[in-house]
Amino acid sequence: MAIATQAGAEGRRPYLRVAGLEKRFGSFTALSGIDLTIQEGEFVCFLGPSGCGKTTLLRAIAGLDPQTGGQIIQAGRDISRLPPAQRDYGIVFQSYALFPNLTVAENVGYGLVNRRMKRPAIAARVQELLAMIGLPDSGPKYPAQLSGGQQQRVALARALATSPGLLLLDEPLSALDARVRLRLRGEIKELQRRLGVTTIMVTHDQEEAISVADRIVVMNHGHIEQVDTPDAIYRTPASLFVAGFVGTMNFLTGTKSDPGRVRLGALDFRVAEDALERGAACTICARPEDFIIRNVGRDTPNAFEATIAATEFLGPVVRARLHIPTLPAMPVVADFSLNAVTDLGLASGRAITVALPPDRLRLFPGAPA
Ligand SMILES: Nc1ncnc2c1ncn2[C@@H]1O[C@H](COP(=O)(O)OP(=O)(O)OP(=O)(O)O)[C@@H](O)[C@H]1O
Ligand SMILES: [Mg+2]
Repeated sequence: MAIATQAGAEGRRPYLRVAGLEKRFGSFTALSGIDLTIQEGEFVCFLGPSGCGKTTLLRAIAGLDPQTGGQIIQAGRDISRLPPAQRDYGIVFQSYALFPNLTVAENVGYGLVNRRMKRPAIAARVQELLAMIGLPDSGPKYPAQLSGGQQQRVALARALATSPGLLLLDEPLSALDARVRLRLRGEIKELQRRLGVTTIMVTHDQEEAISVADRIVVMNHGHIEQVDTPDAIYRTPASLFVAGFVGTMNFLTGTKSDPGRVRLGALDFRVAEDALERGAACTICARPEDFIIRNVGRDTPNAFEATIAATEFLGPVVRARLHIPTLPAMPVVADFSLNAVTDLGLASGRAITVALPPDRLRLFPGAPA
């Protein structure tokens, strides 16, 4: 996985800067306090639940539905008030949005005709783009003669025709079936790398975001919760929301006790992070894969007894639902390798002792929503 943190993106220049952006629809605030800097050549995903404002933010950047406050700077130019035609981007929407009455070649060349490029130059550029998306012979066809995946490739070629500085993709894969979606997301990533075009892709699919993005912007209720590499979003979520939205997470609710300790029912847990006051209600977040089961002894921190209530075969791992007598109300799942399952005879009904290493846990104030 290519990791480009803000530090890792050193040498790159900031390309797009969104500052203090706000968007209101009447009395409803769809976006507030949006601050975001995207580096040149970076692939960024906006990720979040339905209605959190992803499309609204993308449309503001495109000038299709301008913000009600704040600034957008692209390549050093304040584009906050520019109409879409004077901005420098290509866009692909979820529905293919090709012109049905134009051929594939005419669709791809549409933006070039508008720029008054000469016909032979347009034909050559269109051919180059069709070859790039793997559809060199489809120029004379009409959109209806193509599959969904092919239409989305054509939409991508059309968006890239004028070599824009910024590529905007709003859920470009979500109307496609699973197999096509996987293949096309790989192709988009490859193409983006090759062209080096700064790209923003909106998605509500965390796996998609994790697999393609240099950085992910996790959004919730019109604000940004975290901007980070996929790795950091997964390992060190910045909020309970992010912890629960990305990947599978166990939430263990308790009370902060002595320094470095949390009371969980009858259990006394050690945590590495400790910014909370004694007596504060808090939640420990633990990933299913962070449970250890081998070599757990009396002095292993955070060891506890549990019973395997059910198991689910997930391929590389077996996910066990644990019943913890000291925490009866908390649903907890742990992932065990197939080796551990075989070696230790893990099965439904088995009593086990497991532990959660303190440095793998995240601690947040309050309880999950
Ligand atoms: N033109 C509009 N008028 C009024 N409210 C709007 C308008 N467009 C969007 N909204 C509201 O703004 C919020 C954000 O919408 P937006 O379309 O940006 O969400 P989204 O994150 O893209 O969701 P989805 O994943 O469902 O596409 C929603 O509550 C939506 O109802
Ligand atoms: Mg949307």
